[in-house]
Amino acid sequence: MNIVLIHGFPFDGSMWQAQVDGLGAKGHTVHTPHLPGFGGTLGWPKEQYSIEAFADFIYKFISTLPDKPVVGGLSMGGYVLAALLREHPEALRGAMFIDTRIDVDAPEIRERRYVTIEEVQKSGPENLFQSMAARLLAPKAPQAVKDHILGIMRKQSIEAIIGGQWAMARRRDNTDLLPQINVPCLVIVGADDATTPPSVAMKIHNNIKKSQLVQIANAGHMAPIEQPHSVNAAIETYLKVI
Ligand code: MLT
Repeated sequence: MNIVLIHGFPFDGSMWQAQVDGLGAKGHTVHTPHLPGFGGTLGWPKEQYSIEAFADFIYKFISTLPDKPVVGGLSMGGYVLAALLREHPEALRGAMFIDTRIDVDAPEIRERRYVTIEEVQKSGPENLFQSMAARLLAPKAPQAVKDHILGIMRKQSIEAIIGGQWAMARRRDNTDLLPQINVPCLVIVGADDATTPPSVAMKIHNNIKKSQLVQIANAGHMAPIEQPHSVNAAIETYLKVI
């Protein structure tokens, strides 16, 4: 099966390496495109960044595939997945919401994104990376995993970091979309995800007609990196029944 995985912020397609390897070994073709500006790709002017523009970019990508893919998105990638499902529901065979939310930011979080843009413009992104690395992983995550996610963050361009924050701050609420989703869905959440906790995943799961929810033990917001075997097993189980 063709599987398309959309990365979170501030990451790129390389965050899915364990899924490329694990699901690839089971015979699936796993595509992990970099969103524009991420992973060394060409970016856009800030004003052009939006979750809808990212979704359009992914739609163009999946239109080149020989058959309908299952599309998964982590966190910001999940916001893109929702926008894709709104515009092109017919283009997907299934959808996987991974460590993500469906509604908009609380006002103080949205405000924080604009402050972050100014800070990154002024002093660079390292402070942002350090504060994210401290809260994205489960409490017992090994230092090697923290170093790994910091390594991916540090490869991202300032343009993409600013554009990503800009896009997320201005995104729409997609809660109303959930009951309209007709493809089978998988919702995955790290049990220790402090950014989009299990209660948020439950809300997504409960509002979709055909949905499975899997909670991953000993994982935070980056479950596919923290517990790749459990995440791959959940995806494999879901793929067998769709
Ligand atoms: C992500 O992992 O993509 C970010 O935590 C998303 C966000 O900042 O809302």
